[in-house]
Amino acid sequence: MSKIDFTKRPLEHELDPIEIASRDEIIALQTRRMKWSLTHTYENVAHYRNKCDAIGVHPGDFRELKDLGRFPMTTKADLRDTYPFGMFAVPMAEVVRLHASSGTTGKPVVVGYTQQDINMWARVVARSIRAAGGRRNMKAHIAYGYGLFTGGLGAHYGAEALGCTVIPMSGGQTEKQVQIITDFQPEIIMVTPSYMLVIADEMERQGIDPRDTSLRIGIFGAEPWTNDMRREMEQRLGIDAIDIYGLSEVIGPGVGIECIETKDGLHIWEDHFYPEIINPETGEVLPDGEFGELVFTTLTKEAFPVIRYRTRDLTRILPGTARSMRRIEKITGRSDDMLIIRGVNLFPSQVEELILKDSRLSPIYQIVVDKDGHMDTVAVRVELRQDLNDDSAAAAAARDLQHHIKSLIGISTKVTVEPAWSIERSLGKARRVIDKRKL
Ligand code: DLL
Repeated sequence: MSKIDFTKRPLEHELDPIEIASRDEIIALQTRRMKWSLTHTYENVAHYRNKCDAIGVHPGDFRELKDLGRFPMTTKADLRDTYPFGMFAVPMAEVVRLHASSGTTGKPVVVGYTQQDINMWARVVARSIRAAGGRRNMKAHIAYGYGLFTGGLGAHYGAEALGCTVIPMSGGQTEKQVQIITDFQPEIIMVTPSYMLVIADEMERQGIDPRDTSLRIGIFGAEPWTNDMRREMEQRLGIDAIDIYGLSEVIGPGVGIECIETKDGLHIWEDHFYPEIINPETGEVLPDGEFGELVFTTLTKEAFPVIRYRTRDLTRILPGTARSMRRIEKITGRSDDMLIIRGVNLFPSQVEELILKDSRLSPIYQIVVDKDGHMDTVAVRVELRQDLNDDSAAAAAARDLQHHIKSLIGISTKVTVEPAWSIERSLGKARRVIDKRKL
């Protein structure tokens, strides 16, 4: 339901030549860059070098892309073990930016960028916005959070690199979001899909028909969303809704994106990020077309290169359509227990860690995720220690835990501390998370 006809392919001279290069050209470039990235990582990241040495593989063994399968994978555990900077491959003096995202424990995952990395990131995000139908003379309203999260600044630099006029709104202040959209007249909005719906509700509350705003293109990511949600948003807002994918460990937003003319899965910018799909149980590499866990190797990153990083995201690889680069299908789930709450990543183990630090609380807890309208809600139920049956202790412990989750993980929750034995015990695995949201 576009208000502007973007169905035409962008003029070929506007694209980076590699976007429409032949597969042979792409493979030749990847092979050359892969060799560099393996050598760079091996020589400069002791943790990864040790993993290679332990299985007797060396960058010299790499000749063609299928040789990548011989190299060890990188997991979140590797990043945790080397916290904060142990996986950096350049001296700190070369690092111009740090970002961070949730780890599985209290320690976040820290990623670093050289100036070259920042430039490359801006270029892939610019390419992504252009694939979504964005053009240099448009205004881009960025409502991803600015800060340690890669969403805000990643989108910001990319939109600037494309030549858009950037409105660095960040997340929150929903009333003001509507005012700025109304007054500044952006064509593009970049935001999590769930927050877009909250903004649309606020427009209606203010008596504004969401179809009547200046917005033409929504670039939505950082959390899973379905094609049904796309239809709903396109109709309700009169926009083209485009899916953008990325993760901090690989770069941030802009690892891949859908093209507006096809909306048939996300093209991976394969000249910088090399995708594989593995069986999450066995680690076996699967052929294109088969479902499994997405794994990335960065081909050009300097400060924080990753070799065969296990994203835990589940999807499959499909051939290119609107671009020569291969696509992934919309992400359907994860092979670990990470939850995404209003765009913020949350591992149940992070909450557990905070519970265990409080001697008033027993380690029996449950996290209940639900929706209130379009907003994710999180309730944490936890039991008071048996010998402490006292209402005021329970209320104080609840207040403290709620505060710690908000200040250390960044998520608002409703914590209730209940008497011992209130939470049902399961016979097998404890059911720590009840996710009532329907995808
Ligand atoms: O969410 C980067 C980003 C920002 C992507 C803005 C797109 C837009 P992290 O905080 O490290 O980085 O979280 C990465 O979020 O492994 C997926 O599980 C999930 N994710 C990101 N984009 C999508 C998407 C950013 N389009 C984790 N669909 C990833 C489904 C997504 N899941």
